[in-house]
Amino acid sequence: QGRARVRRRTGHIEPAHRLAADERITVRVAGIGPPLPDNIVTNHDHERTLDTTDEWIRDRAGIAERRTGGVTSELAARAGKAALADAGMAPDDIDLLILATCTPDQRFPATSATVQADLGLTCGALDVNAVCAGFTYAYITAYLMMTAPTGPERVLVCGTDTLTSITDWTDRNTAILFGDGSGAVVLERHEQGRLLGWDAGADGNLKPILFCDHDGFIQMEGREVFKKAVRAVVGSVEAALAQAGLTPADIDVLLPHQANIRIIEAVCQRLDVSMEITHNVLEHTGNTSSASIPLTMAAAADNGVLHPGSIVCMTGFGAGMAWASAVVEW
Ligand code: ACO
Repeated sequence: QGRARVRRRTGHIEPAHRLAADERITVRVAGIGPPLPDNIVTNHDHERTLDTTDEWIRDRAGIAERRTGGVTSELAARAGKAALADAGMAPDDIDLLILATCTPDQRFPATSATVQADLGLTCGALDVNAVCAGFTYAYITAYLMMTAPTGPERVLVCGTDTLTSITDWTDRNTAILFGDGSGAVVLERHEQGRLLGWDAGADGNLKPILFCDHDGFIQMEGREVFKKAVRAVVGSVEAALAQAGLTPADIDVLLPHQANIRIIEAVCQRLDVSMEITHNVLEHTGNTSSASIPLTMAAAADNGVLHPGSIVCMTGFGAGMAWASAVVEW
């Protein structure tokens, strides 16, 4: 192991200096759970209260409607229950729960503790907050813990956010973008499935362009976030692919954070990959932060494109600014 070297311009860590996982231990996604809140808020609903139009929102963001309602622990437990059922597992089978969220129920206990109790789990539980990069951070964390010889064998990773609870519904700059959602995966040690490369980074200097204070609402400089997000995602995907010894052309399924369809288009264009390898949930969910990647993974599974051996790349970005990418052999 050499000394960690961080590329100054992008903040991406040079692959050669990563902690090596035990190559003999591999991990697969055994189950996915994608429930959403029932209440639908359409662009036309926003037209009634905001100076905006359905056409503007579809054109600038690619969103038609979003789901709202519920608290984070309740939505996370619903997703976790669905993922356990999909994996054919019981609560006792799970060795660790990681919940990615930036909208916890309370300051403490961690929301994952509430979810642990609601699901009848008996394992440890922790929250991860990297905002819209949270699920990918949690996935990488789970995988690397599982590949330690004494690590957990089955981990439930939930990505859940209730962003509408911290959105100012009178602010057209933000109200049109966000929704509530939840998704979860069960990871288990298995000979099929491998994390080939990953990248995780942050630039706290960019805090002022996207933040939410205690008891406040989301504050965002949309245009700046857009530009920085595209750059961060492209750099992060390239870094994770380099670690895997792959190029963008090798990606079979791209699961990008769903914030704005134009960000996804710009990322695909710069990576020189087709939009065909992505999956769109954004149109019907809005930006659901930590939930968006597991929800997109569920859509990809429903579309029948996740096969053993497929190269799947998930990539998240958000406030911090934080970003994370994982290149997985399915
Ligand atoms: N309806 C109609 N007009 C609007 C609306 C609206 N809802 N919102 C803004 N406008 C107006 C603006 O006032 C501006 O008017 P002006 O030209 O008279 O000043 C005009 O539309 C253009 O505004 P821009 O901000 O330049 O519009 P842009 O094309 O950048 O789209 C958007 C705005 C959709 C917010 C885009 O910048 C974006 O998606 N940014 C990234 C957001 C994002 O990814 N956030 C991630 C959050 S993840 C997390 O960590 C929570």
